[in-house]
Amino acid sequence: MEIVFATNNINKLKEANEIAQNSGITFILPPDSFNPEETGTTFAENSYIKASEAAKLSGKIALADDSGLCVNVLNGAPGLYSARYAETQQLRIKRLLNELAGEKDRQAQFVCCMTLVAPAGEILYQTTGYCKGHIAHAPSGTHGFGYDPIFIPDNYTITIAQMDDETKNNISHRGNALKQVLKFLSNTNL
Ligand code: IMP
Repeated sequence: MEIVFATNNINKLKEANEIAQNSGITFILPPDSFNPEETGTTFAENSYIKASEAAKLSGKIALADDSGLCVNVLNGAPGLYSARYAETQQLRIKRLLNELAGEKDRQAQFVCCMTLVAPAGEILYQTTGYCKGHIAHAPSGTHGFGYDPIFIPDNYTITIAQMDDETKNNISHRGNALKQVLKFLSNTNL
């Protein structure tokens, strides 16, 4: 079964298909005109906005994620604004490291809300996945994307960017949320 993954981020599509391998589900990109305005005030609202636009444009069931990095001492920032925290990813990492300079409490978590939407727009399923850890003092590693070079998950001493894809998918917020979605799909006749 093909499901539209409501993203323009090829890394997310790749991760989703790696996690879904052997499930009978293949995720495909939305039509080129997919360009939703993320005007929601929560991860759940934004994931619904993206999924419903992709479902409407494609006429197919669509899944969207909305994700971000939430740092405890920054009251959850960058959070919803993770992708817009500075102009480039390198500058976003630099800004976050500057804001945490001298800070001992570096606890943080990645959050990912996923929403599965029918072609007519109704929500079929919604779930949230988490990955807890802390922010490193400097970037390390070249795998993954976004804030991966500065995020060290609990029970690890390396950043996500130093892990192979399989290890990241096993523990990531997106992996956790997607496993719930796949479980829902395997128990439901759509
Ligand atoms: P979204 O595409 O609106 O969900 O924005 C998510 C933003 O959060 C991304 O652009 C990254 O900056 C950050 N982010 C989300 N998931 C990850 C991840 O798995 N690794 C690193 N950064 C992530």
